[in-house]
Amino acid sequence: MDIDRVEKLIRPGLATMHGYDPIEPIDVLERELGKRIVKLDGNENPYMSSPRARDVLAHFPYYHIYPDPLQRNLREALSVYTGFPPDCIVAANGSDEIIDLVLRLFVREGQEVLNFPPTFGMYPFLVTVCGGMLVNVPRKSDFSLDVAAARAAVTPKSRVAFVASPNNPTGGAASEDEVRALLAMGLIVAVDEAYFEFSSGTVAGLVPQNPSLIVLRTFSKWAGLAGLRVGYCLCHERLAGHFLTIKQPYNVNVAGEAAAIASLKDVDYLKANVGKLRKERERLFAALSAIPWLDVYPSQANFLLCRVKENRAGGRVATAKTVRDGLRRRGILVRFYESAALRDCLRISVGLPEDTDALLAGMEEVWNEA
Ligand SMILES: Cc1ncc(COP(=O)(O)O)c(C=O)c1O
Repeated sequence: MDIDRVEKLIRPGLATMHGYDPIEPIDVLERELGKRIVKLDGNENPYMSSPRARDVLAHFPYYHIYPDPLQRNLREALSVYTGFPPDCIVAANGSDEIIDLVLRLFVREGQEVLNFPPTFGMYPFLVTVCGGMLVNVPRKSDFSLDVAAARAAVTPKSRVAFVASPNNPTGGAASEDEVRALLAMGLIVAVDEAYFEFSSGTVAGLVPQNPSLIVLRTFSKWAGLAGLRVGYCLCHERLAGHFLTIKQPYNVNVAGEAAAIASLKDVDYLKANVGKLRKERERLFAALSAIPWLDVYPSQANFLLCRVKENRAGGRVATAKTVRDGLRRRGILVRFYESAALRDCLRISVGLPEDTDALLAGMEEVWNEA
């Protein structure tokens, strides 16, 4: 069979789909620019992983052995951290994999998934891969959920709603009442709390009374393990049993599992870093708010969304794209968006205090050269 015929056998929705936009590896960029990169485009943790996690990885004796498919040690450790029984916890290859597992478990080809843009791009990507129908319910102009519009969008084919809370990239959190309202629509509601540790709330307390609620969490942000890919969910124990049955048996690799367990023994250290980032978020918010050509949105996560205002005064015109490009030339990376709802927006991850200093100096230079 030639490759043209082989490609004709690919599922129609997948042969032509636009893949997930990949990020550029930092070492490639550093080589390209010839200087240290201030990386504020990935919502990663600039304080890195815990020393205990790094030490455990350096001396781990079982890289040659397959991981435990039932993740017993990790789920026990997560039980202590979350207060949920181990039977209500499932770990995965990043919380991205939990999104995928939710779709595999509940969504057949043609069934509908509610999405609340602007939000995390992994939901549309994975809905497309599983053959589901994405139903977008745009957020209001302040980026809060439009619950009435969600209710109107529900059909007999609706199965799942994904709510990032705090939302990436807008930074606000959904209220408990909003989540209750979505649950009352008869959907599986997956609340993605990837930024939980940076925020001031959680809906995990609703899980015991609501078997249709799944709360997603991750070690990528607060624990600095983004590269090792460890996420998990909190849900009804029977649902957890189904996830354990359908997941890839070795979805969490031994390095990720060991590092996550070590991180859970270093919670005070990691939470102190979260505290520093929350403090730096406030400083960055104040500094960006003082820039006359920017609007900044409040955030409960480790990033801030800002909008470059119309700014033709004095003959100067800076756009979000020129700011992004100008910062990039200076080795400072921030995230830029092209969708209509995020027109003129930049998302800036909270970094070290010196990263904030470099960013602010860079923004001033970019403005002066516009
Ligand atoms: C809302 C949201 N959920 C999930 C993730 C991915 O988490 P993980 O690294 O655990 O797959 C991200 C990462 O940026 C995110 O913003």
